[in-house]
This record gives sequence, structure tokens and C-alpha cells, in this order.
Amino acid sequence: MEWTRKQRYRRIEEATKEELNALKEKVNKSIWRQKFHIQPVTGLLNDPNGFSYFNGEYHLFYQWFPLGPVHGLKYWYHTKSKDLVNWQNVGIGIKPNDYFDSHGAYSGSAICHDGKLHLMYTGNTRDENWVRHPYQCLAVMNENGRIEKLQEPVIKEVPKGYTDHYRDPKVWKENDTFYAVIGAQRENKTGCIVLYSSPDLKNWTFEGEVQTNLKEFGFMWECPDYFELDGKGVLIFSPQGLEPKGDQFQNIYQSGYLLGNTLDLKTKVFEHGEFVELDRGFDFYAPQTTIDHKGRRLLVGWMGLPEIEYPTDKDGWAHCLTLPRELTVQNGKLIQCPVKELETLRQDSVNVKDILDDEKKMYEGFNGTTYELICEFTNMEADEVGIEFRSCKDEKTVISYNRKEQKVTLDRTHSGEVPAKEYGTTRTCSVEGDTLKLHLFVDTSSVEIFINDGVEVFTSRIFPRPESTDIRFFARNGKVTLDTTKYNLSTMN
Ligand code: FRU
Repeated sequence: MEWTRKQRYRRIEEATKEELNALKEKVNKSIWRQKFHIQPVTGLLNDPNGFSYFNGEYHLFYQWFPLGPVHGLKYWYHTKSKDLVNWQNVGIGIKPNDYFDSHGAYSGSAICHDGKLHLMYTGNTRDENWVRHPYQCLAVMNENGRIEKLQEPVIKEVPKGYTDHYRDPKVWKENDTFYAVIGAQRENKTGCIVLYSSPDLKNWTFEGEVQTNLKEFGFMWECPDYFELDGKGVLIFSPQGLEPKGDQFQNIYQSGYLLGNTLDLKTKVFEHGEFVELDRGFDFYAPQTTIDHKGRRLLVGWMGLPEIEYPTDKDGWAHCLTLPRELTVQNGKLIQCPVKELETLRQDSVNVKDILDDEKKMYEGFNGTTYELICEFTNMEADEVGIEFRSCKDEKTVISYNRKEQKVTLDRTHSGEVPAKEYGTTRTCSVEGDTLKLHLFVDTSSVEIFINDGVEVFTSRIFPRPESTDIRFFARNGKVTLDTTKYNLSTMN
């Protein structure tokens, strides 16, 4: 179905109860609804927003177009959780119903201040000629969860030298000053990040551009995030317009980070190493981090990409968020691990220890559609080892390791319905070592694979048939020792 502009900018408030119920019913019939991931009740979810810990709970909002699986008029949808595992749907957090956000309450972030959660976001507007004007706006949530917008934007103008692609404020506090990074496009159509400062979150001063050494690196940098971790400065952003380079940058758009010295807030100089992709799978974009009361740096991403059609579109919904990950820095690299709390989803488990010798094997209890699988391959003599999962006669998703090339590959060529085929159906990345640990979270229509305790992550949607439940372990050309545990996971409450 082609969506007209009018349909995409229709407000949920205009839809009748019957219409919404019919849409919900259609969505609930989808065979690809997730069991332990945040997903929209109807319509399309994209970026995580306002990720924070406030008043004893985690809050996580997301970009939401309620009325169908397309990018239309965006609301902020609010979810919250006591444990990062069970998320409660709260309802709409921010409605795009003011002059400064009339065409979408776009992405932004949250910070606690004066006992209230402050939400800074981009108000997207369009004039009668459909020319965009972005405003940076503020909304305040009190301890009862009531959210009220400030009636005027806090940043009204785009400074000279930048286009109207100017959005996604991520705010933090250092000493007594608030800072925000904003994703921007220079007039010469290259992407960058700008820095603002404020004493009170209301009055903002433009400090200038963050000085990286990436002068021409795509046409727009979306969803920037800056934080300090283990004495390092980390700048995350989602650049658009990179060309594929070897195994890298294979998706339509990328998300990654620069690791360096801490950002000099006076000179705006950020000395850093290479841009590194955060995730090597097919579906990952616009991640956001927060720091919690335990001092952990947590990250959640959108398990989807812009401008790509997905098989759930025909069921009236699209996308979900990733599981929360904890970030640390080790050996000059960001390491990402699933948060410990996810262990509370575990139910019964099975374990197998075996030696595979140039063969493919299945084991009792190793099957299903929603589970966690931890698998260690040691004493590797085989040329290639791996796992086929969500498999049956004619379907499989494969994660494998080529020992000679020292490369891990995720293959969704035969995963069922495959989105974005034009961008290829395999993703590969280098992983060093003679042993391999794979940690998979498999939900009805997704997989997140943590390699060697978070050195790399492959996040992907997969759309197999419900009966594709087999798990097969294999070794090619030689032997390998296998030690694997599978946990059935409960559904999120
Ligand atoms: C990233 C993005 C953001 C924008 C939002 C709109 O996916 O394009 O830059 O704020 O989505 O939904």
C-alpha cells in the first residue's frame, strides 16, 4: 500500500476506537510478534529516546508513528521498567501538537534536574511549501509521570553554516553546566556534530562544531551521544552516506563510535581513533546511552533501519528495540554485553558437551523460537564451526566462524522472508582467536549475537516460519570441542 502524505501525517487522536482496535487485532495476528523485546502496539517504532533512570525506574521512550508501518507523524511513546527486562507500556509521552513540533516530536534525550526528568527533543515542522524547520524543545516529567512541554522552544534557530537537518539533542551535565550535542549537516552537505552549553537547560549557547578529524564522512550525522567511560571520551553517532568498505558499512546507514581523549569543552577538540561500527548485523541504528544509579553505561538501539521495507509491514507494525547492553572500554575498544538482569528471563536449561568431527548435529532440547544460547567452541582444528538456528528443511539462519580467515559471518540468505536483499544477505567481521564464544538471544523475529564476551555484536531481524525451530551445531574439516547451554526464556511481563 502506498501511503499518501495526508495519511502519514494523520494524528492518532483523529482515529476512531474501532479503527485502532481493528489495527491492533491485525498486529496481534502477526506471527512475528516479539516475546521479550520492546515493540509498538501498532505502527512503526524507530529511535530509542529519553533513556534514563529516574525516581527508581528506568524510562525508555521511542519514536512512534501509531497508524501504520511507515515514517509519518512521530510521537514519543513512553515505556518504563524497574529491572531493564520487564517493560511497561505507559502511553504517549510527547504529542506533536504545537507550532514548534507540528510535524513530529523527533528524537532526543533525558536528564534529571531539580527532581524532575527533563526531555530535550527536536520539534520538526514544515511550512506550506514543505520546507523543514527544526526547533530544539524541552518537556518536563514530574515524579508522578506527568509530562508538560515548555511553551517555547529552547533553541529556535539553526546557526549560519548548517542546513535544516539539525536534530537529536543528547544532553549531559558536567560540574554546573549542561551540554548538548546535536546532529547536523553543514551547508556543503557533509555531516557533523555541534555543541551547546546551558546553565539551566532553558538558555542555550551555541559553542560551535565538535572538532573531529572526519571532515567528509557522509552527508548527515544523526543521533549523536557523548559520554566518558573508563577515562576515555566516546562519541557515538549514526552517519548517513558512507560507501561500503571491505566488510564494513554494508547497511543502508551506519552507527558507530569514535573513542578518544575526553572532549575539550573549551576548544571543542576531540582527539580520537578510527570510526568503529557498533554492531555488525543487518538491523541496528540510532542507539542511545544512559548512565544508571549503579554507574553503568547502558545502550539501547533501534533494531531497524530507515528507508527499508520489512515483512511485518503487511501486519500493520514495524521494528523493535534491542535488548539493553552494558558498555565498557577494553584494549581501546568498546565492549558490549547484555545486561546481567536479562538472566531473570531464564527458565529451564539444557547443556551439552561434545566433540564434533566434520559433522552437523542436533541435540535433545535444543530447539525453539525464544531462547538464550551460550556456545563455546574450543580445541579448534576444524576449518569452520558454527550454528544453524531457526531452522527446518528449507530455512536456516547461520552464524559461523572461519578459523583460517579469522572471520565471523552471519548469513540470513535462507532465514525466511529476507528484507533489504539489495544490501546483501551476509555480514562478516574479523574476530581473532582460537576459541569462540557465541551468546545468542533469539526472539520470534530477531537475533542478537554477542561474540567473545562482547567484542562484536551482530543484531538482526529474521522472519522465519514458526515451525523453523531446529538448532544444529557443525564443524567442517576437522574437530572442535563444543560446550553449549540453552535457556528457554519467559515472555516479558
Ligand atoms: C533517526 C531519525 C532522527 C530523527 C528521527 C525521526 O532514525 O531520522 O534523526 O530525529 O529519526 O523519527
